[in-house]
Amino acid sequence: MQGKRIVLGIGGGIAAYKTPSLVRQLVAAGMDVIPVLTESAHHFVTATVLTTLSGNRVRADLWDLDAENSMGHIELARWADTLLIAPATANLLARLAHGQSDDLLTTLYLATTAPTIVAPAMNVEMWNHTATKRNIGALKTDGVHVIGPEHGEQACGEIGLGRMLEPEDIVSQLLATTGPISASMEGIRVLVTAGPTRESIDPVRYITNASSGKQGYAIAEAARDAGAVVRLVSGPVALPSPRGVQQIPVTTAAEMKAAVLDLAGDIDIMFGVAAVADYRPIRSEPHKIKKTQQNGPSISMDLVENDDILASVAALPDPPYLVGFAAETQNPIKNAVHKRERKCLDAIVVNDVSDRSIGFDSDENEVTLLHADGETTFDRSTKAQIANKLVSAISALYAKKRT
Ligand SMILES: Cc1cc2nc3c(=O)[nH]c(=O)nc-3n(C[C@H](O)[C@H](O)[C@H](O)COP(=O)(O)O)c2cc1C
Repeated sequence: MQGKRIVLGIGGGIAAYKTPSLVRQLVAAGMDVIPVLTESAHHFVTATVLTTLSGNRVRADLWDLDAENSMGHIELARWADTLLIAPATANLLARLAHGQSDDLLTTLYLATTAPTIVAPAMNVEMWNHTATKRNIGALKTDGVHVIGPEHGEQACGEIGLGRMLEPEDIVSQLLATTGPISASMEGIRVLVTAGPTRESIDPVRYITNASSGKQGYAIAEAARDAGAVVRLVSGPVALPSPRGVQQIPVTTAAEMKAAVLDLAGDIDIMFGVAAVADYRPIRSEPHKIKKTQQNGPSISMDLVENDDILASVAALPDPPYLVGFAAETQNPIKNAVHKRERKCLDAIVVNDVSDRSIGFDSDENEVTLLHADGETTFDRSTKAQIANKLVSAISALYAKKRT
């Protein structure tokens, strides 16, 4: 299984220098990218850089018989889920608008049935020219999605409309235009932990945290919809059980650890979304603690550290692909990078819960996925949409690790 398959067409404009960063971000978002350069594009970016970053041999020549023997231009056109052209120069837009097929990229455009997105980039006067406007109009009529350009300082020194969108904006627009990556987790065994844990002080009191379980449940549902066999180890939450998901209810961190270790040997991917209590009272009183004169105005309680569930799974001889979650209030990325390394996780998803409108009980989230090959930020959207994007990205990263 691969993530969404992108043919990235690169035209001969100065903004092509940003395409290595674009390729990195597309790959980090779980996409499989084959760059296709026009002849002029070679003046602005090297095939070596793009091949290295994409992990796929760059294509440029319609008359490359070796390439035609392995994956010919028609197969490449069929392979693509999306044709993304960035930067699209004025000349390239003209060629596309007129249905020319005088090189590999323009031939692919005619031959593919995949949605096509173009990110124009040119000098402001070139963008304002009636010929360019006519070509853009024709491409839009033909169903091409045009993203950008934006206003700003240009490489030629002028200020105006014509700058290519930044790579991160292109990735966001791509996801927004084509929808979440249609991931397949067919038959993959997924374990999700969700919600808080409760650490009992006495029969009526406990220590817990503000986790609602919404993001974990959304991930369990997204993985189920992608075809995975999903088990959900859940702390106490007020959410309906997801259909078609085996739910294992637990209360304490120790119970969650036992349930997870019981299942971990039969799991391919684990999403550790639960907000597991770091500490528990050193002992849980058998009877309700009374307010007495002897206790005075304050009482204290000794806490002991709970075992780290993800680290325990990572220490197994053949651990599943491990995705941790970090809710941070300070230096979220820096802290998450350390946490990923310390716990030997394959990937970590971090959100900044100091922003009350995302995270914990909110219905929306904004997260950054960090893994060995890079990082991707998924802009603010519903927890269900974030879950779909994460499941897609992780299924691609998992497939890559396995191969
Ligand atoms: C240094 C330099 C920078 C250029 N930048 C741009 C650009 O940003 N946008 C554009 O439309 N054309 C630009 N051009 C012109 C294109 O390279 C030229 O029109 C070329 O034929 C486009 O080829 P393509 O159709 O393969 O993109 C630039 C040319 C040079 C020499």
